[in-house]
Amino acid sequence: MRKTIVLRAVFVLTIMIIVSLFLLSGMAHAQLNNLSGRQTTSLNGKWNYIIDPYETGYYSFHAEVYDQHNVKATGAYYNNYHAKNKSELVEYDFDKSPTMQIPGDWNTQAAELKYYEGTIWFKRSFDYQLPKGKRLFLHFGAVNYKADVYLNGVKLGVHEGGFTPFQYEVTGIVQPKANYLILKVDNKRTKEGVPTLNTDWWNYGGITRDVTLVEEPSMLIEDYSIGLKKGTNNIISCRIKINNPAPATITVEIPELKINWSYGLLANGIAAFEIPADNISYWSPASPKLYKVIIRTNAQTITDSIGFRTIETRGPDILLNGNPVFLRGISIHEEYKGRRAHSAADAAALLGWAKELGCNYVRLAHYPHNEHMLKLADKMGLLVWEEIPVYWTIDFKNKSTYDNAAAQLTAMVNRDKNRAAVIIWSVANETPLSDNRNTFLKNLVTLTRTLDSTRLVSAALLTRQENGQGIVDDKIGEDLDIVAFNQYRGWYGGDLATAPEAVWKVPYNKPVVVSEFGGDAKQGLHGTKEERWTEEYQEYLYRQNLQMIDKMPNIRGISPWILTDFRSPRRVLPGIQDGFNRKGLISTEGKRKKAFFVLQSYYKSKQRKYPD
Ligand code: GCU
Repeated sequence: MRKTIVLRAVFVLTIMIIVSLFLLSGMAHAQLNNLSGRQTTSLNGKWNYIIDPYETGYYSFHAEVYDQHNVKATGAYYNNYHAKNKSELVEYDFDKSPTMQIPGDWNTQAAELKYYEGTIWFKRSFDYQLPKGKRLFLHFGAVNYKADVYLNGVKLGVHEGGFTPFQYEVTGIVQPKANYLILKVDNKRTKEGVPTLNTDWWNYGGITRDVTLVEEPSMLIEDYSIGLKKGTNNIISCRIKINNPAPATITVEIPELKINWSYGLLANGIAAFEIPADNISYWSPASPKLYKVIIRTNAQTITDSIGFRTIETRGPDILLNGNPVFLRGISIHEEYKGRRAHSAADAAALLGWAKELGCNYVRLAHYPHNEHMLKLADKMGLLVWEEIPVYWTIDFKNKSTYDNAAAQLTAMVNRDKNRAAVIIWSVANETPLSDNRNTFLKNLVTLTRTLDSTRLVSAALLTRQENGQGIVDDKIGEDLDIVAFNQYRGWYGGDLATAPEAVWKVPYNKPVVVSEFGGDAKQGLHGTKEERWTEEYQEYLYRQNLQMIDKMPNIRGISPWILTDFRSPRRVLPGIQDGFNRKGLISTEGKRKKAFFVLQSYYKSKQRKYPD
């Protein structure tokens, strides 16, 4: 037995040396963009799990962290250890533990996990024959909230942030048979987290998006951004990053535009060049034209579907391809039928409802959604506002909190920078005013523009009332391209009958977007328009708010709160909320409320005035 443990220790130590060599060589820092164009193997399916509220699989009884000190510990769950004989003590066994469907939140897959906040371990076994000279990456669409990732007992890393992709190179660790991939997932909320302790949505824990193995050549196309150069509509700017570069030629081909452009690769692996392009059919909601783009080296070919369009502001106007546009939107949480949404089918259902409403725009709240939503918005012609969960009372004076927010912002922009549908990056939602908050947000705005100068930057601000007037004078508005704000006239105060006469002051000559308004209604509950929680109240609230909004200065878009009812631990009114926020225009069961048709008819009239 001792011999086995020694051999295991030698194996793990050898692997760790290989991994560190990879890290030193810089080969392993690849962050692969666009998996759909690559050679992938899905690890979705049934995974075993162990609920571990005391983190027994991570700490010894004296709080010694196993994976920092004692790699041989048989009690460390990441070792997937099995007793070698009848007398050996081992108190866990993944293979005899229950399973759940991955991707998927844990809260809705087992009754005892509905409110669970803590650690759950997951294990998936797989075989993989990696051809000689090839490299293998392990990619996660998202894991909420913190993931410690191990493969065959080797710690690959720790990722924090519940809504952005991450990956590790596992070349040299993966073996042909019986690989065991183990994650420690912890969804506990923390004061310094992003989001922080308090949110108005369910803290869905787990491996909530796709898990994928990606096989790559030794010299690989790691990342690329391809789109119209800022300020032009006939020059396509390309930036391609090659990992482990050798002298090579990069080719970008866009057959429909008769483009076939080759470029010598620089020693640093970057190829940045501009291609003149005529006769482009510009992407828009009315005509969401996507071009097949082929990126080639002598080792690899990747294809993507990319739309070309311009987006800018001029005074109070938002110009899409040079034409003024009104954003007929709706806010959407990543939730479908009472669970965390994650699939292409979920995306089709949610965005299909948005289209039925007459939307040309969606606000994906309050965090980056799964990539299926963005790729489908590209295809369906839905403009997109994406945001990071810098929500409410974030710890604005904490540097690690800022670094976390910045990392999530960077990952969001990196993932979706080739999606024509995305026109707005948002850095915050309803954050309380303070000097620390202003500094935090200004830095995020600057970072956003550094990452992507071609899109607009915004944030969902709060307003204040003064002498009966609505005032939007949040200082951060000076740094934003679009002044967006949430207002809840008729729900969190303010009279509905006089709403159409309300006066609003916005001291910026910029486009204004009402990023939230709305009110709760229990679907099927009917009464008079004065009775809160009825469909009639919500219907009246929409009618009155829409009249008020139409008179706001510089109004150029709205994204009412919200497409569907969604779970929230903050909403506990028995018989009405029962753990759901009921501001949806559609119930969790998919039933439309009366206010749905008020907004739909408003958008029909808007589209006549502002055709897409
Ligand atoms: C806030 C917040 C939402 C919340 C909504 C509500 O504006 O941005 O996340 O769900 O109002 O109170 O229903």
